[in-house]
This record gives sequence, structure tokens and C-alpha cells, in this order.
Amino acid sequence: MVETEEFIAEAKAEIREAIGDANAVIALSGGVDSSVAATLAYEAVGDQLTPVYVDTGLMRKGETAEIRDTFDFMESLRVIEAQDRFFDRLEGVTDPEEKRHVIGEGFIDEFETVARDVDADYLVQGTIYPDRIESEGNIKSHHNVGGLPEVVDFEGIVEPVRDLYKDEVREVARELGLEEIISERMPFPGPGLAVRIVGEVTPEKAAVAREATHVVEEELAEYDPWQAFAAVLGKATGVKGDNRVHGWVVAVRSVESRDGMTARAQELDWSTLQRIQSRITGENENVARVVYDVTHKPPATIEYE
Ligand code: XMP
Repeated sequence: MVETEEFIAEAKAEIREAIGDANAVIALSGGVDSSVAATLAYEAVGDQLTPVYVDTGLMRKGETAEIRDTFDFMESLRVIEAQDRFFDRLEGVTDPEEKRHVIGEGFIDEFETVARDVDADYLVQGTIYPDRIESEGNIKSHHNVGGLPEVVDFEGIVEPVRDLYKDEVREVARELGLEEIISERMPFPGPGLAVRIVGEVTPEKAAVAREATHVVEEELAEYDPWQAFAAVLGKATGVKGDNRVHGWVVAVRSVESRDGMTARAQELDWSTLQRIQSRITGENENVARVVYDVTHKPPATIEYE
């Protein structure tokens, strides 16, 4: 598409002009927004850009391996294994905003280390238009590395996709030749599975949310949802084999949306819902029941925390 090609050429020129001969860092999350921003910037300035991917332990199934694979053309890519540090920080944290805050701080610490190491003067971010609107309205604390400029004295922040909507970012991703697992990937929140876990985040709950989300993404691909995932709500009683168990309650959520600002819960076939239920309870012995969330946004949000 000519318009998309033009956008790419202009974005790269703008990035080159902004960064010049300096060094830059970008937080690569695996989502389409940061992937597009990182690819544009890498194509513009090469290894002057250090893309940083932090495995928080709250990523989707197989995501870290996919990132290594997809972005292996970026020689400067750094993958940071920070799972233990994040679970330590999150111990005992139950308030949703505090969770976001703790995770945001964790990201900032990880990035600060790299930014100082590579002497980065610029921060590239994959902020898109709806992010800016939501942040201005202060609906939630949104950007994982939003506080980074207060810690590292950058000369500037470069946001090459700041005026695009999600569907436009996907268009650019396709034009850049990014693989479908990136360009067609559902949006995934910066704090990861933490906002799909009600209450304290533990490695066990994260594992349940990850496995269940994987089942939901697989089973609902044909419905082409904006986002579909599973959340861990709490514990309830169930029967497994001959025993009563106190197991996790998993909520399945599947929504249609254009930009995430409003959303509609999707109407799904009973047989699909039952297949999801049976896979999730079958594959996770500590899940006691599965429920389907029929709430639109508003009044609910898409994520749980
Ligand atoms: P909510 O749950 O507020 O989500 O209806 C709207 C859209 O934003 C994503 N989301 C986040 N993205 N950091 C992010 O980068 C966050 O803290 C965050 N919280 C929610 C969510 O997945 C949905 O697409």
C-alpha cells in the first residue's frame, strides 16, 4: 500500500534525524506496537539501537522464544531473564495500581541498566494514538517505561507510531514483513499476565493464567477477537476424581473492539465454550472451574486489574 510505504519511509527518516549518531534503546514487548517501532528504528539506525526484551515471568506461552526467533536479525537485541526478580517484587502486592507500579519500576530498573551500559541518549517507544488519549485521561498508569526518562537523562524520546491506530500499526507490520504471529497478534498489556490475576501474583497463578490463555487463544482464533484470554480469579471448590478440591476459578474473556477504549463481549458457541472448559480443567489439575465473562466495556474493563 503506497500510503503505508510512504509512512515507513518518513518514519525512518524522522528517526534517523532525531537520533543522528547517538545510541538509543527501545523496550521490545513482543506486541505489535513496540515490534513495529523497534523494526522501523532498527532499519533506520541499525545497531545504534539496542532493543531490550524483558522476560518478567508474566509473558504468554512461548513468547520469549518467538521473540528471539523473530528478531534474530537485530544483532543488538538483549533478552533479559528477570522472572525471579519480578516475582520477588510482587510478593504480597494485591492492589491493582500498586501491581502496575511495581512492575513498571521493575522494567525501569532493567532498562536503566542497559541504557547506561550502551550509553543511550534516546528512548524509542511504541506508543500509539489510543495510548496517548488514555494516558491523558489518566484511566490507568499505562507505560511500563514511562518513568524511565526521570531516571536516565535522555536527550529525547522518539515515538514513530504515535499517530496510528492499532489496525494501522498492523498494516505497517505487514508491510515491514514482520511475521504473522507479530502482525496479527492480539494486544497484550505491558504488565502481562499480572493484570489477568486477581490479587497477589505468584508463579503458580501465572502458570495457570499462561496455560489457560494459550488454550483460549488457540480455540478462539477462528472468531477473530480483538483480545481473548483467561484470567485467574480466586479459589473455589470442585471435584476431581474422587476428591473435593479447592482449585482456581478461571475466567475466559473474548472481546471485539477497534481500539480497546470500548469493547463488546463476544457471543460464542456453547460447544466452543465447553471445549475450552474441558481443556483448561483437563490440562491444569488445580483449576476447579471455568466461567465466561459476558460483560462489555464499559462497565467492565477488558483486563481484570
Ligand atoms: P482495559 O483493561 O483498560 O484495557 O480495558 C484496554 C486495553 O489496554 C490494554 N492494557 C494495557 N496495556 N499497559 C499496557 O500496555 C497496561 O497497564 C494495560 N492495561 C490494559 C488491554 O490489554 C486492552 O487492550
